[in-house]
Amino acid sequence: MRHILTPLDFSVSELDAIFDIAADIEANPKKYADACHGKKLATLFYEPSTRTRLSTETAMLNMGGSVMGFSDANSSSVSKGESIADTIRTVSCFADIAAIRHPKEGAAMVAKQASRIPVINCGDGGHQHPTQTLTDLMTIRSLKKRLNNMTIGLCGDLKFGRTVHSLIEAMSRYPGIRFIFISPNELRIPDYVIDMLDEKGIPYEEYIRLDDVIGRLDILYMTRVQRERFFNEEDYIRLKDFYILTRKIMRRAKNDMFVLHPLPRVNEISVEVDSDPRAAYFRQVQYGVYVRMALILALLGIKVNDDGSITEEGGGKLPL
Ligand code: NCD
Repeated sequence: MRHILTPLDFSVSELDAIFDIAADIEANPKKYADACHGKKLATLFYEPSTRTRLSTETAMLNMGGSVMGFSDANSSSVSKGESIADTIRTVSCFADIAAIRHPKEGAAMVAKQASRIPVINCGDGGHQHPTQTLTDLMTIRSLKKRLNNMTIGLCGDLKFGRTVHSLIEAMSRYPGIRFIFISPNELRIPDYVIDMLDEKGIPYEEYIRLDDVIGRLDILYMTRVQRERFFNEEDYIRLKDFYILTRKIMRRAKNDMFVLHPLPRVNEISVEVDSDPRAAYFRQVQYGVYVRMALILALLGIKVNDDGSITEEGGGKLPL
């Protein structure tokens, strides 16, 4: 049985196959309309979410499956003190696949160990968020027609931003990638990520000012300051408006640079940027549905053939 806890749980060629399926879903959505008929997805969300939960549920519903779950730990037995392991053991009796989001790093790993169904990590604390990364890669691939040879700027809360950590991990497997990290000192990228880049010999630079480097970027990945992971509110208030991407700053960027953001946005991108053709963050949300559909098919071992017929592989073999 396969799970996804980090983007590295899939090889580059497996990810390519998932993106090819996602692109086919975008082009031929009707072909997939019944692909998950009779299958059930459980969403176990111990932390707030709009996009990730609804996008994962939409993915299942678009393929004729059904969904169940909770979006607030207080409405589940967690509030009575049940462990993640016991919850997932129970859910394994009800559903075919589970998507879990939890404020603690490593929670998805605990779930995976106790689970009898595939587990999708939808965010574990400040650690990883692989389905957002699949979304990000699919968006970059669709907009730039490649995933290699580019300079990616990541700006904002690089310390607590789990989407940042997953994206760097995933992109560092493609040739010709250079990272530019833009953050205040307090929100610098964690050492374990830097160590990984050093070990692999992947070039990166660190800056504080976005204006100084925006002109060199092919992708600008903006992020929100992660209020919920701060130890004190004063630090958050001091740092929350450190970056605000405006039309004026966008004038310095290349014409073919794209701005991505996992969303939700707070203040870090001014709404005046939304109408810039290079603002890709709402298109990104749409790609997130296609890629989650492709991921669910892969984890359930379901292959949709060219004529629309379905083959179930099972046994953990990805039908890619
Ligand atoms: C992100 C998350 O939850 O980590 N949101 C999302 O899933 N699209 C980013 C964030 O909350 O800032």
